[in-house]
Amino acid sequence: MSKPQLNKRASGERRTLTDLPAFAASKWQMSTGERSALEGLLCQLKPALAIEIGTAEGGSLERIAAHSDEVHSFDLVEPQLPVAELEHVHIHSGDSHHLLPAKLAELAEEGRNVDFVLVDGDHSSGGVQKDLEDLLDSPAIGNTVIVIHDINNPIVRAGVDAVRYGTYPKVAQVELDCVPGYVFAMPALRHELWGGLGLIRVDAQRDSYDGLSPMQQLYYPAAPLLEEMRDVLVAREQPAVEEPPQVDPAEVEWLRTELAETKELAERYSRTAEGIESSLSWRVTRPLRWMKTVFRSAQR
Ligand SMILES: C[S@@+](CC[C@H](N)C(=O)[O-])C[C@H]1O[C@@H](n2cnc3c(N)ncnc32)[C@H](O)[C@@H]1O
Repeated sequence: MSKPQLNKRASGERRTLTDLPAFAASKWQMSTGERSALEGLLCQLKPALAIEIGTAEGGSLERIAAHSDEVHSFDLVEPQLPVAELEHVHIHSGDSHHLLPAKLAELAEEGRNVDFVLVDGDHSSGGVQKDLEDLLDSPAIGNTVIVIHDINNPIVRAGVDAVRYGTYPKVAQVELDCVPGYVFAMPALRHELWGGLGLIRVDAQRDSYDGLSPMQQLYYPAAPLLEEMRDVLVAREQPAVEEPPQVDPAEVEWLRTELAETKELAERYSRTAEGIESSLSWRVTRPLRWMKTVFRSAQR
């Protein structure tokens, strides 16, 4: 049976739903919601110049490359990927904390603007904070959409929260839970907090710095709420602890008395038995008892 297809487009092109980047099986390390949001932004923005920090298996790079005229992607590891072979894709292998400031300085020197950045590289608090500050410190980041992946992870979030956005007059909008993240259910990552897209909109052409905070104020930040919910979930999924049986103090007291009396009785019998065994008549009659035992076993 052939795969169900979408309606034929005016161009004559026919596609199935699984041909679409949001649904296609790929190495893109993002959820369907994150993929859709990123794809939507890139479709609108159509960057002339884009940067990605964190190439990994090239999933997000493929989509950034599909919408951009020029892309620079940074990763510790050199990727062996078809997307890396594309003429407008430039791979920078090494630590973004060294390579990125150098590239940004070069772009600024050339008077160029970076339209789009995906920050998805170093996931330590200090690492993500440095990548963001390097970007915001650069004049090449003037009219730019910066998207940060994994803002729902508490370690990443601490770094993202540590950036002092208010000190950059060009930062127009900060929505750190633009696409909220998730609590993993799959066994290998059960209860771990990952995902989510944060958004920083930079607009150096704003008339003036109005002194208002660029941080979104409409909604409670979702990541800390999800962290609390995760703790509730973990507690709820703990196996129920069996209640110890209720103890009646009067019954305990009664059992204590019974035990003491039984001990005393046992000691009394033990003393009596010792007295019998050490008496003269008991010792004199020992051969008789022995013969009785032998006689009984012979009868059986
Ligand atoms: C989560 S993966 C990126 C996923 C990719 N953006 C996607 O959506 O398919 C993170 C990548 O960042 C890279 N990375 C970690 N620290 C880095 C650093 N200091 N500089 C450059 N890349 C780094 C890792 O090697 C890894 O490949």
